[in-house]
Amino acid sequence: MTTDNALATGLFSLSNPQLILDPYPTYTALRRNDPVHQSSMYGGSWVIFSYDDITALLREPRLTNNRATLPIKALPAEQQQEFADIVPVLTRWVAFFDGHDHHVRRQHMNAVCDLYSRDVLVPVIQNAIDTLLDRWTGRHDLVQDFARPLPAMVITKLLGASDNDHVQLAEWSDDIAYLFGASNLTVEDLRRGQRAIHDFAEYLLEHTVNAMRAHHPTMITRLAEEDTDGFRFVLNEACAQGMLLMFAGLEPMRYLLGNAVWSLESHPEQRHLITENDRTLHRAVEEFLRYDGPVQYIGRMAAEDFTYKGHRIEAGQPVLLYVGAANRDEHHFRDPDTLDLTRHPNPHLSFGRGAHNCIGGTLVRTQTAMALRALATRFPALHVVREVSPVYNTNLGFRGFSSLTVHTGL
Ligand code: HEM
Repeated sequence: MTTDNALATGLFSLSNPQLILDPYPTYTALRRNDPVHQSSMYGGSWVIFSYDDITALLREPRLTNNRATLPIKALPAEQQQEFADIVPVLTRWVAFFDGHDHHVRRQHMNAVCDLYSRDVLVPVIQNAIDTLLDRWTGRHDLVQDFARPLPAMVITKLLGASDNDHVQLAEWSDDIAYLFGASNLTVEDLRRGQRAIHDFAEYLLEHTVNAMRAHHPTMITRLAEEDTDGFRFVLNEACAQGMLLMFAGLEPMRYLLGNAVWSLESHPEQRHLITENDRTLHRAVEEFLRYDGPVQYIGRMAAEDFTYKGHRIEAGQPVLLYVGAANRDEHHFRDPDTLDLTRHPNPHLSFGRGAHNCIGGTLVRTQTAMALRALATRFPALHVVREVSPVYNTNLGFRGFSSLTVHTGL
C-alpha cells in the first residue's frame, strides 16, 4: 500500500505490515496533511504527528493517564467481567495516576531510582554483558541472545529477584506488554496477560517479603520501607511498581539495541563514533533514540470532551501521541531523515516530556552505550547476516526486531 492510499483509506493501523516495515514516509505525509488524525483503532481514537502538537498535548490536563482499563475496553460488557480483577493491580502503577496523586508517587520513585546511579548500574550491566557475550562466536540472534536477556538480567538484579529467574520475569512482562501494545486483542491474549499479572504479583510479593525479613534492601523494599516527604508505598503497591519497571523497561530496551545495530549496518562510515570517546558514544545513543526509537507513541485518554484545533475529542477516546513522527519533524530537526550520530542538540521526545517522562533514562542511556561499545570492541567486524530475514515486532506501538541474525566476524 502506498502512502497516498494509506491516507485516502484511513488505514493508519498499528498492525499494518507496510507501516511496520517503514512508518516514516507515512508519518511525514500525515504530519503535513492530517496532523490530528482520526482513526478507528480502539473503537475510535486520535493520532497526533507533529512535535508542537505533541509537546502541547503532553501538558494538556484534559488528557488523563488513567488507562488501566484500556486492554479490556473493547470487549463486550459481559466479557469484561472475566478480566475485572486485573484492573485493581494495574491501577496501582504510578504511570496511570494524574496530577498530585502522580506527583507524590513519582517523587518517591525518583528518590529511590536516584540511588541507582551510573556508578551502581555499571557493574551490574557489565556483569550481564560479559555473561552473555563471553559465549559469542559465529552467528547469533542479536535480539534473543543479547538484546532481550540483557535488560531482563539487569532489572531482575535491581528488583532483588533471583538471577536465574530473569527468563520467567521477561516472559510475564512480555505477556503484560502485549495487552498495551496490540489494538486487536483476543480473549486468549487477555487470559495470558491476566495469568502473567497474577503470577508476577505473587512472585514479587514473596521475594520482597523475604528480602525485608533478611534486611536485604532492593528497589521494591526501598519503595515500601523508605519515605519521601512522608509518602511511601504499601507493600502491594511497591510490588506493582516493580512489575511496572520490568514491563516498561524490557521491550523498548531490546528494540533500541536491535534498531541501533541495524542503523549502523547501513551507515558504516559512522561506526567509529561508537568507540571514539564517551562524548561521541553518548551523542550516538541520543540519535539512535531519535532516528528509530522503540516507543513510537505515548498513550493518553480524554478525561472529558474538548476541542483541539477544531477537532472534537470525546471523553474516553484514546489519544496517541506519535513521538516517532515528532522526532522526524523538520521544524525541529535539520535533515530529520538522516542518521547523524554527532547530532547536537537533540531534543527528541523518545522519553516523553514533563511529569510522566521516562524514569529509566539513566539506565537506558548507560546500558545502551555499554552494550554498543561492548559489541563494537569485542567484534569489530560484526555484521547483519543478510540471507536471514529480520523479523519485526508485529505492532507499530513498539518498533523493532524480534529477531535479527548477526555474525560476530570471528
Ligand atoms: C529505550 C528504552 C525506553 C524508552 C524509549 C522509554 C520511553 C518511555 C516514555 C516515552 C515514557 C513516557 C510515557 C508517558 O508520558 O506517559 C516512559 C515512561 C516510563 N518509563 Fe520508560 N522507556 C524506556 C525504558 C525504560 C526503563 C529501562 C525503565 C525502568 C526500568 C522505564 C520505566 C518507565 C516508567 C516507570 C515510566 C512511567 C513514568 C510515569 O508515568 O511517571 N522505561 N518511558
